[in-house]
This record gives sequence, structure tokens and C-alpha cells, in this order.
Amino acid sequence: MNCAIIYYSQSGKTKKIAEMLKKKYGADMYFVTPNKEYGGYISSVVKVGAEKIKKEKVESKIIPVKAEKYDVIFIGFPVWYGSMPPFFREYVLSCKIIGKTVIPFVTASAGGKASSLKAVKQSCPNCEIRDYFFSSSINKEDPEKWVEALIL
Ligand SMILES: Cc1cc2nc3c(=O)[nH]c(=O)nc-3n(C[C@H](O)[C@H](O)[C@H](O)COP(=O)(O)O)c2cc1C
Repeated sequence: MNCAIIYYSQSGKTKKIAEMLKKKYGADMYFVTPNKEYGGYISSVVKVGAEKIKKEKVESKIIPVKAEKYDVIFIGFPVWYGSMPPFFREYVLSCKIIGKTVIPFVTASAGGKASSLKAVKQSCPNCEIRDYFFSSSINKEDPEKWVEALIL
């Protein structure tokens, strides 16, 4: 079973889960770096807000993953403005992940569970999306338990 982990993490929460998955499955890891410096939390909130107003497209620095090599693709990201970070969505779309098994893992400070899942569904057409993990400070889930219980 060939697995890939495609993820973004700014302050490290989502990264921790990506590393747990890597440890369990030995999957290829792809950290999606934006081709723009967002800085820390406040600076990012301001910059992403401005991007939204100006409808600015931000690309990523890494080349699209060859999705056809993989059976299972984990997709992890933090919620930004209620959903998937826009540059990350562009990146996932560019990978053309079609007809695969996709397992999303998402972290947030509060909400965005349903809209993040919707964003994954939209960016990975005709995929089987399963075992969705979502954790926020309000709705804390244990990623270790989730990874441990996963059966591919
Ligand atoms: C630009 C920006 C926008 C964010 N928007 C939201 C949001 O709409 N809802 C939310 O619950 N958390 C929001 N957050 C908080 C992050 O989703 C949360 O801290 C996440 O767990 C960080 O994961 P990371 O450490 O992997 O980057 C935002 C953070 C940033 C930097």
C-alpha cells in the first residue's frame, strides 16, 4: 500500500499528526510551503484577509505530487478563515487527486469542521474520503488514538 501525506502546518499542531502517520505508515511526506512569507499568527491573519479581499492567488513552492503513485493520500491542514488555506487548496487541486482513498486531518482553534471536509471533497473529486480527523480547542480529539485505530 503506497501512502502519501500532503500537509501544511504553520505552528506545528497539524505537523505532529503528520509525523504520527509517517511513523505508522512510512508514507512519503510532502510539506506544502507557500511561496509567500506569512509570518506568525497575527501577520498571517492580516495577510490572508487581504488576499481574500484582493482575490490574490498564492502558489506553493513545491511541485505537484504524482498522485497516481499512491493508493492512500492523507491530507492535513489547519483551518484558515473557516476552511482549507487557499494556497493549500490550489496545491491539492494541482495534484489532480482523482479516484483515490483520501484521509483528511484538520486542526483548528474553534470551528470549520464541515467546511474543511467540503473543501477536501471539492479538491479531490471522485475520491473515497474516510476516517476524517478534526480537532479544535473546543472539540478536542486525541490524534494518537485516531492514528492508532486507523486501519488501511
Ligand atoms: C490565518 C489564520 C486563520 C485562522 N482561521 C481560523 C478559523 O477560521 N477558525 C479556527 O478555528 N481557527 C483558525 N485559525 C487557527 C488555526 O486553525 C489553529 O491554530 C490550527 O490548529 C493551527 O495549526 P498548525 O499549528 O498546524 O498551523 C487560523 C489561524 C491562522 C494563522
